[in-house]
Amino acid sequence: MLVLAFETSCDETSAAVIRNGGVLSSVVSSQIGLHAEYGGVVPELAAREHLRNLIPITNAALAKAGVRASDLDGFAATQGPGLPSALMVGFRAAQSMAFVLRKPFLGINHHEAHLYSPWIVGDPPAADFGSFEPNVSLIVSGGHTMLIHVVSELQHRLLGSTLDDAAGECFDKVGKLMGLPYPAGPEIDRLSANGNPNAFDFPRPLIHDANDDFSFSGLKTSFRYFIRDNPDLLNSPQTIRDLCASVQSAIVETLVAKTMRAARRLNVRCVTASGGVTCNRSLRARLASATQRENLRLRLAPGGLCTDNAAMIGILAERKWLKGAPAQPGDDVLPSWQLIA
Ligand code: KG4
Ligand code: ZN
Repeated sequence: MLVLAFETSCDETSAAVIRNGGVLSSVVSSQIGLHAEYGGVVPELAAREHLRNLIPITNAALAKAGVRASDLDGFAATQGPGLPSALMVGFRAAQSMAFVLRKPFLGINHHEAHLYSPWIVGDPPAADFGSFEPNVSLIVSGGHTMLIHVVSELQHRLLGSTLDDAAGECFDKVGKLMGLPYPAGPEIDRLSANGNPNAFDFPRPLIHDANDDFSFSGLKTSFRYFIRDNPDLLNSPQTIRDLCASVQSAIVETLVAKTMRAARRLNVRCVTASGGVTCNRSLRARLASATQRENLRLRLAPGGLCTDNAAMIGILAERKWLKGAPAQPGDDVLPSWQLIA
């Protein structure tokens, strides 16, 4: 199949062309600069920017793949969850193209698509479903932090998620308290490389609780009070690096400990991870050493596909069609993702 997919759930406008599990093109335009001055994503601005960018990005994706719109066999777009006004742009565009060209359309659950990005490998990238195996998957970004038991390829069970802030949000907010630019996650990652992770002791929320949930607002608050009570710490570049390394260590340790405990309990042999925070070098390294210690396989979304992208949407849509999923007719916007109990 030749599939055109869109992802516009948050602040990335993305179009991708997929053929038989291969990514022929994946074009992503990030709006980070647009939202930086507000310290977070402004939904109305995000939607307007998607409207402005979607057609040029679609043209770029088609040109890079060397195909025309009339060659396409199907269309897919993120259906949710996400910012409603932003989602509507990509969803309606793909649905309308499908309607005009009389081709099938599928709305895709954003989280379910994230589960597929660790299986996209190589250059040019393609889905490696031949080596698929049941796994525990960590989806960790600015909007979500969740653990999912991937029982089989299209069967998933939500184990737990954040009770308040997402891990990426925590990175961004503590960074803001240190005066770092938005989004602060990449900057904290960079500064931590020369900082001491044991310099300051921040809480590891829920790390010993017997559930698969996360909570990062307490860590953020504890950091806020610590800075309020010790403002001079921010005068020293080395202390800022130590603060970054210490808070990063608290977040990463919690993510890794809870992921590994779920993997152990469910007796899976594989751990996967995706979402923007999966770019974090410490998280990648600590997941690698923890899985190696327990003789588990680790699959991390490749660099360019950790953050939100349309390639994962198209890969999943094609997979669903190949496995017999019906196209969604007309205005059907029912959730496509069934969580099993
Ligand atoms: O997947 P994503 O683009 O979408 C959402 O916004 O949900 O993730 C963005 C998040 C931001 O919070 C950003 O700070 C974080 O991922 N992030 C990182 C790193 N790169 C991106 N956090 C820590 N270390 C990084 N290297
Ligand atoms: Zn996402």
